[in-house]
Amino acid sequence: PTPKSLLGRKILITAGPTFENIDPVRFIGNYSSGKMGFALAEEAAKRGAEVFLISGPVNLETNYSSIYRRNVISAKEMYEACREWFPACDVAIFAAAVADFSPDSVASQKIKRNNDDWVLHLKANPDIAASMGQMKKANQLTVGFALETNNEEKNARRKLNDKNLDFIVLNSPNNEGEGFMADTNRISIIYRDGRMEKFPLKSKKEVAADIISAVEKIL
Ligand code: PMT
Repeated sequence: PTPKSLLGRKILITAGPTFENIDPVRFIGNYSSGKMGFALAEEAAKRGAEVFLISGPVNLETNYSSIYRRNVISAKEMYEACREWFPACDVAIFAAAVADFSPDSVASQKIKRNNDDWVLHLKANPDIAASMGQMKKANQLTVGFALETNNEEKNARRKLNDKNLDFIVLNSPNNEGEGFMADTNRISIIYRDGRMEKFPLKSKKEVAADIISAVEKIL
């Protein structure tokens, strides 16, 4: 890649977890730290892109003037922000770990304990990647992740199709140093023509460079 190979390109990136409120003090969340998504945002910015970073609740900072950051909490807020920004973007990379379900109602006061069990009813959240995949125009490119604990390749190929992605990045939380929270990751990229490219364990910054280079090849 040349230093400014993405000059003039607009890239949307989702990062981090989403939190789905149960009551004023409790939520459903996951272990995403945002490191993978932020590494992608910084790599794209380094190559000259204008980056629209939609981040769930994370403890990370970025200092690039070409990264526009919007902080969100829930899957619904992340979805609304993507709907607003995606139409103007050339590329979208969905690195966030979006909650697939949220409580169907949020209690206005803290739910009190008694000695009974408590059943929480969850409703399905919007699938952001799939929904942007439906809106996608011929000149737009979308990239998803698949975080799989079993039947990894088969599930990833299904998501690639269902979400109408140009390629999908498969990773796994099963091994140390991969997936959530770590500074490193091990990925495979699966393309629409069926090809799969496997990469060794690398820092998330290097993984981000591999993913952005794969995007550039298609652009
Ligand atoms: O943040 P880190 O600690 O650095 O960890 C990085 C990561 C493990 C979170 C990241 O590499 C990763 O795998 N992100 C996707 C996690 C995930 O939710 O995967 P999934 O297989 O459930 O979802 C498939 C794809 O659809 C993803 O691109 C996801 O962003 C997207 N999705 C999922 C559900 C939903 N409601 N909307 C979505 O857009």
